[in-house]
Amino acid sequence: MPDALSAEHCDDLPAPPLSGSRIGEADPRGAAMPAADTESAVSEPPSLSLPHRGGGESPPQPSRSIRHAFVEAVAALRKAGAETPELDARLLVCHAAGLTHEAFVARAGEGLPPEAAARLRASLARRAGGEPVSRITGTREFYGRSFAVDERVLDPRPDTEMLIEAALDLIDRGAGRKAPLRIVDLGTGSGCILITLLAELPNARGLGTDISADALRAAEANAARLGVAERASFAHSDWLEAVSGQFDLIVCNPPYIASGEIDGLAPEVARHDPRLALDGGEDGLDAYRQIARDAAKVLAPGGRILLEIGATQAEAVTGLLGESGLHAGKIGVRRDLAGRPRVLVAGA
Ligand SMILES: C[S@@+](CC[C@H](N)C(=O)[O-])C[C@H]1O[C@@H](n2cnc3c(N)ncnc32)[C@H](O)[C@@H]1O
Repeated sequence: MPDALSAEHCDDLPAPPLSGSRIGEADPRGAAMPAADTESAVSEPPSLSLPHRGGGESPPQPSRSIRHAFVEAVAALRKAGAETPELDARLLVCHAAGLTHEAFVARAGEGLPPEAAARLRASLARRAGGEPVSRITGTREFYGRSFAVDERVLDPRPDTEMLIEAALDLIDRGAGRKAPLRIVDLGTGSGCILITLLAELPNARGLGTDISADALRAAEANAARLGVAERASFAHSDWLEAVSGQFDLIVCNPPYIASGEIDGLAPEVARHDPRLALDGGEDGLDAYRQIARDAAKVLAPGGRILLEIGATQAEAVTGLLGESGLHAGKIGVRRDLAGRPRVLVAGA
């Protein structure tokens, strides 16, 4: 594809704000980022902040209302030290009662069935014990879609939505979203990057790879759940080792935490994300070395590689890409709202 995707346009552009995203936060795999924190930009429904009905003595209630359960859940989570108690409580009440966010608002005055109340109690205990909300509910919103997540895969982070934005910007400025692009997503995990791109690009096809067979199964299930299975395939590969063919886009959010730093991460990350998804080797750069070394051989003419990076890794990864012949002078950096480099874009 002749220069369909131009990385030069991306140089040091500040990223546009993403809806529902927390781009300005600390490194999502860093110590300051609780997993439940990721959706707190969503505003609370005003009706749920109303005080409990009725003055004076409370009349006996056969079951608490959903609103009441929510208010109690917020209080319990706040007491337990949760950073986003309202958001967590809403997600957990919705999960326990099987409600969408819309139904949660519309039916707040209805009673919470006893089984749902029991589920909520169990969920609150797990959350108070430090388990991320997405691990309890088994789902994570990513770029407006709901992905199933479990212990096999990294809990997708809002920061990774920036990689999606960068890829779509390139495509909008180049071949356009209807183009029959070929995409490979290395270390696909839950499949959130590949599946989102396929959902946004109706004529694209893609390959997701991972060294974890468990992760590949999770990604495959998400591709089916989100309706892109016919255009997605998944394969076991150590980065690009088993990948052949030519791709217009290589996308990757590799493990980039230095091995020695993993134990110091927030327990929600260190205990609940697979180590394989975090550990970038002694200096955090192992995956980038391997990917930079092999990327040119599968990158189609005019194609681009987009890599998520840790906040301090731009220089080192730019150097690795440059050494491998991926246009050293034309490597674009995408920064988050706090000015930290988050995504590198390079061309063959
Ligand atoms: C940071 S996670 C990213 C997951 C997903 N793409 C996302 O953004 O949420 C890194 C992924 O790379 C995979 N991985 C680790 N080492 C790998 C290797 N040598 N070859 C291929 N994939 C690898 C892990 O299993 C994990 O799924």
